[in-house]
Amino acid sequence: MTLPPKPSRESRITVSQLMQPEHANGLGNVHGGWIMKLVDETGGLCAMRHARRPCVTVAIDSMTFKEPVHVSELLELTAEVTWTGRTSMEVLVNVIAENPLTGDRVFTNSAYVVYVALDDRGHPTAIPPLQPETEEERTRFAEAQQRHERRLQNK
Ligand SMILES: CC(C)(COP(=O)(O)OP(=O)(O)OC[C@H]1O[C@@H](n2cnc3c(N)ncnc32)[C@H](O)[C@@H]1OP(=O)(O)O)[C@@H](O)C(=O)NCCC(=O)NCCS
Repeated sequence: MTLPPKPSRESRITVSQLMQPEHANGLGNVHGGWIMKLVDETGGLCAMRHARRPCVTVAIDSMTFKEPVHVSELLELTAEVTWTGRTSMEVLVNVIAENPLTGDRVFTNSAYVVYVALDDRGHPTAIPPLQPETEEERTRFAEAQQRHERRLQNK
C-alpha cells in the first residue's frame, strides 16, 4: 500500500530547553553528550510526526560543535525531514543557543540523523514519501539520497 506523500512542514518541530547546572561538564559548559541526546530526541519526534509510527535511530552522521553552549542559555533545536526511503528517513537537526538576557543567538551544531519506522511487531514499516515543495527542498532531497547511498556502502 502506498501512503500519501507528506511535506516536511507537517512534521517540522522546534524544541527549546533551558540549560541548567546539571547539564554542565567539568569546565562549566554544557556537556556535548547532553546536546547529542536532545538532537536525537528532537529528530526522533520529527520522524514520528512524519511516520506517525514509533521510530528508532539507525545512524547519526558526524556532529561538530562549533561553539560552546553555556549554562543559563536557551537551547533551541529544530528538526525537519530531508529525505525518505521506504521505511527510513533522514532528519536534519539544527541547534541554536540563545542568551535570553541579550537575545544573542549562536548556531552551535547540526546533524543528520536516520530513523526507521516500526510496525506493531517491531519490524521496519513503510512511511509516507516526502513531498519536497521548493527548489531548495528538492536539491536537499537529491543530496540526502547521495548521503543515504554512502551510509549503506559504509555499513
Ligand atoms: C533499525 C532496524 C530495525 C533496521 O533493521 P534492518 O534489518 O537493517 O532492516 P532493513 O534492512 O529492512 O532496513 C530498514 C531501513 O533502514 C535502512 N538502514 C539500515 N541500516 C542503515 C544504516 N546504517 N544507515 C542508513 N540507513 C540504514 C535501510 O536502508 C532501510 O531503509 P529503506 O526501507 O528506506 O530502504 C535495526 O537495525 C534495529 O533495530 N537497530 C537498532 C535501533 C535502535 O535500537 N536504535 C537506538 C535506540 S532508538
